[in-house]
Amino acid sequence: MQLDVVTLFPDWFDWFRGQRHIANAMAHGHELRTLNPREHTPLSGGQVDDTPFGGGAGMVLRVDVMDAALRGFYGVDPVDLRHQRRVLALTPGGRMLDDRFVEELAAEPAITLLCGRYEGFDERIVQHFASDPVSIGRYVLSGGELAAMVIMDAVLRKLPGSLGHADSALEESFSAALGGDPEYPHYTRPAEYRGWKVPEVLLSGHHEEIHQWRRARSRERGAAGGGSSLP
Ligand code: 6GU
Repeated sequence: MQLDVVTLFPDWFDWFRGQRHIANAMAHGHELRTLNPREHTPLSGGQVDDTPFGGGAGMVLRVDVMDAALRGFYGVDPVDLRHQRRVLALTPGGRMLDDRFVEELAAEPAITLLCGRYEGFDERIVQHFASDPVSIGRYVLSGGELAAMVIMDAVLRKLPGSLGHADSALEESFSAALGGDPEYPHYTRPAEYRGWKVPEVLLSGHHEEIHQWRRARSRERGAAGGGSSLP
């Protein structure tokens, strides 16, 4: 998969690229590129943002700057780009990220993530250049960069190459294999620590009983947390 991040802070992604599972994904042929609108801005002095019409605090990323950046990078009108690849606008008011959305994104060959800064984007960027507005939760971050890393981490671990163990993404929390429920609890050695024992069934070697026990714990956790994320 090709992941492109449009950001005023490309350095942030150097750390992300350096993490083992992300580096593994890149070694398997997945690609992570950053594009800085400041390098493409038609405005003088590297200007990329402006004060909001109608007044209010903060600065807003300009639509003409994003147009020039995407056009310069991809060589097409950004209005058409979103029909060629998923273009996500990262904004707290967007579609909430969940496992189903992550699966949907993991099936794409190429994704572009647009990071807003300061007070965010001029709304025309979201309306005309993005295929999907995306949010990672009901709180406000100071920019889309951390949200972009959250999304890319969740998407890359669904793909071959990122995880050491190919099965670990299959039966994980909120997956279809677990009926959309959170993952069951895990235990490892020692089997007893300070009097805290690992559930007997896990030491029994009875695979079917272990499977039943795990499904039951998973369902319990799903019910406690407000239910499965699947219909
Ligand atoms: Cl995608 N961006 C920002 N700035 N804040 C957020 C968010 C995104 N998702 C939740 N909060």
